[in-house]
Amino acid sequence: MQINKAEFRCSSEKISQVPKDDLRDIAFIGRSNVGKSSLINMLTGHKALAKVSSTPGKTRLINHFRINDSWYLVDLPGYGYARVSKSKRGEFSKIILDYILKCEKMHFLFVLVDSRLEPQAIDMRFIEMLGENGIPFGIIFTKGDKLSAAQLKKSVERYSAALAEQWEELPPMFRSSSARGTGREEILDYIEKCL
Ligand code: GTP
Ligand code: MG
Repeated sequence: MQINKAEFRCSSEKISQVPKDDLRDIAFIGRSNVGKSSLINMLTGHKALAKVSSTPGKTRLINHFRINDSWYLVDLPGYGYARVSKSKRGEFSKIILDYILKCEKMHFLFVLVDSRLEPQAIDMRFIEMLGENGIPFGIIFTKGDKLSAAQLKKSVERYSAALAEQWEELPPMFRSSSARGTGREEILDYIEKCL
């Protein structure tokens, strides 16, 4: 898929505020600082569509970006950010759960995981929750430029083994680097098939 047009549409602090049209949402989520906003900028070819920050917890709202006037790319708040107050955090915040479980626009969810890390308990719990609720999802390994090809392969295998304990069939998985533009075509082609 080519992206010819990408524009910020709105930020929502609850799901009653998301756009009320029938365009489908493809959403991105993951632990704080995993590289969601950077990936969104890389996919859309815009340097600063989504705000990138070295301070974790930057994205607190549901951000809708309208792509090619035909679908929305959605930047969700990160989970697992300890410095957000307990009441707001829970394990996964209300805004995240409401959006994922109740928003009818939500069509497919990409869960981003840092390719440098071993499978994180919070990511595994999040993925388990998606499975229990029948939410369609895929996994994107981020920051691949920080690993050698062999290390990256090992990391994907580690995740596959951990997921195989919970799942009969593995979800689609993509390797990416926003710094190098890796994974762009594969992810956009997959989105095109989903829509
Ligand atoms: P929050 O919105 O705060 O939850 O973070 P986020 O998941 O949107 O992460 P963001 O894109 O803001 O990136 C966090 C940090 O990781 C920034 O310092 C980025 O420059 C860095 N980063 C993101 N993607 C990559 C990547 O592919 N390679 C490298 N080397 N650094 C990256
Ligand atoms: Mg962000």
